[in-house]
Amino acid sequence: MEIQPPLVLKRQLLVPNKTLMGPGPSNCSQRVLDAMANPVLGHLHPECLQIMDEIKEGIKYAFQTKNDATMCVSGSGHGAMEAALCNLLEEGDIALFGVTGFWGHRAADMAKRYGADVRFLESRFGHALTMEEVEFAMEGHKPQVLFICQGDSSTGIVQSNIGEIGKLCEKYNCLLVVDTVASLGGTEFFMDEWKVDVAYTGSQKVLCAPPGISPISFSKKAMSRIISRSSKVKSYYWDATLIGQYWNCFGGSRIYHHTIASTLLYGLRESLALFAGMGLKSVIRRHKECSFRLQKGIEDMGLELLVPVQDDRLATVTAVKIPKGVDWRKVSEYAMKKYFFEISGGLGPTADHVFRIGLMGENATAEKVDLMLTILREAILNTSNITLNEKSKI
Ligand code: GLV
Repeated sequence: MEIQPPLVLKRQLLVPNKTLMGPGPSNCSQRVLDAMANPVLGHLHPECLQIMDEIKEGIKYAFQTKNDATMCVSGSGHGAMEAALCNLLEEGDIALFGVTGFWGHRAADMAKRYGADVRFLESRFGHALTMEEVEFAMEGHKPQVLFICQGDSSTGIVQSNIGEIGKLCEKYNCLLVVDTVASLGGTEFFMDEWKVDVAYTGSQKVLCAPPGISPISFSKKAMSRIISRSSKVKSYYWDATLIGQYWNCFGGSRIYHHTIASTLLYGLRESLALFAGMGLKSVIRRHKECSFRLQKGIEDMGLELLVPVQDDRLATVTAVKIPKGVDWRKVSEYAMKKYFFEISGGLGPTADHVFRIGLMGENATAEKVDLMLTILREAILNTSNITLNEKSKI
């Protein structure tokens, strides 16, 4: 044999315990981690299927939906994004992408690969889309699908008018896809009431489960569009009708679609149980209160938030402008080396311009906010020559 067993694999596995306060993943609770240490089950074993049924109930609660076609895709939030788009879109379909940062462009990239005629609706930088902007674009483009990211983690912008956008989509006979990967649990979301046709989220944000399994739900209207497609969904793996049969969404017998990671199911099941136990309203309230505390602390320090309008600020991810004379990489490295504490840089249009601070699930507490402010202040002062307001000292 030319290739010998690698020496690195003889060493013990090393995983440091970091405080994950970037845009996600966030830290898992001990209950979630313990759950994942349970034995692996077969993907069609009755106990595994029972856990999947329980997860479906948890997702319906989190999305506030009665949709039968509620399931998970085995993949990160990107997988759910791809599943949403490739199921709805056929060659030449017009798809309009709301852009408040990075994610509208990422979704459009996927849609293009599935042959859609992609159009953009860009917000004023740092602001959410207004209803006038959305209506103008809908009138002009007459899309079959409108994509909106409820919480853009690159800018920390929240789109709070999804309910009104839903009504508009109904008027224009357009399917509404909403990305709630970074926002669900940190802000209100009412899938049925707001007439959202496809919603998906990430397990690794407010829910505090590991990434790799992503909740997604399709309205009746979305499912009938999928069923009446003139061409097959181009991806077998993301085909909602097949995944839905495995998740027992439509009655009939379950099929073997893929081998699901049972350990991820245990983690997600427990994270949804914790979430449901705390109650949606109280989780949202806590995230909002923590984000107000963080915003005040940041401004007291003399730093500036990227998003100027309070109502456009996402509770789960806050973007803070990097002041002149500060190198975000050095700040981030300082916090990580000294405290195993994550302070993230920007993404896409905000790369090198902002710090991104995540307050999600376990990390959305007043204590963690104060810890973030203390470490951020110390890291900036120790890696640059700038001064910060005294007022911010915790
Ligand atoms: C991932 O979700 C990110 O915003 O970096």
